[in-house]
Amino acid sequence: MIEIPAQSILIDRQRLEARVKELAAAIDRDYRDKEVILLSILKGSILFLSDLMKELTLDLRIGFFYLSSYRGNTTPQNPIEQYPLPLPALQNRHVLIVEDILDSGTSIHYALEACRRYRPASLKTCILLNKVGAQRNYTIRIDYKGFDIPNVFVIGYGLDYQERYRQLPFIAVLNSSQPESSQ
Ligand code: IMP
Ligand code: MG
Repeated sequence: MIEIPAQSILIDRQRLEARVKELAAAIDRDYRDKEVILLSILKGSILFLSDLMKELTLDLRIGFFYLSSYRGNTTPQNPIEQYPLPLPALQNRHVLIVEDILDSGTSIHYALEACRRYRPASLKTCILLNKVGAQRNYTIRIDYKGFDIPNVFVIGYGLDYQERYRQLPFIAVLNSSQPESSQ
């Protein structure tokens, strides 16, 4: 059983649902009559992507990158590891990167650079959580932002600590007494 103290919940289920609907409405409006490819970064973005796409009425396709930078720790590890996955055709398509969280910016920078090589018609970002005050390796433009959060390690709604807690339907702050992984 996973037990999360109520006081560590940062964004509850209702706020997440409401904000995802608002983001979807804005995306639907902006991409009206266009075909869009939602490109997500595994694994952290799966709940956000699936909730967001259920709200969209656009003609869309999805694709995935599989990147890993944390590898069990609570601070970014460099360099990023990419595991190979086939991507949908991106050339001349409208590509929207859907990501769970912006921390150092390394993962999204990597994904943006990888997409640019295919010359998409447009390339934008939709990011659920923006860690304010985090040390950034790259400046990333957020076109659709869910929430600003403090610079703390969070779990839930797809985000993990050592591969656990992804299934939580809310965002919580990880108990800071938890030890760092030695992996
Ligand atoms: P960045 O490359 O440093 O911007 O980190 C982005 C990736 O690290 C995200 O896609 C997450 O998978 C992971 N990450 C960053 N911050 C957190 C956090 O607070 N909790 C869980 N995972 C995180
Ligand atoms: Mg991620």
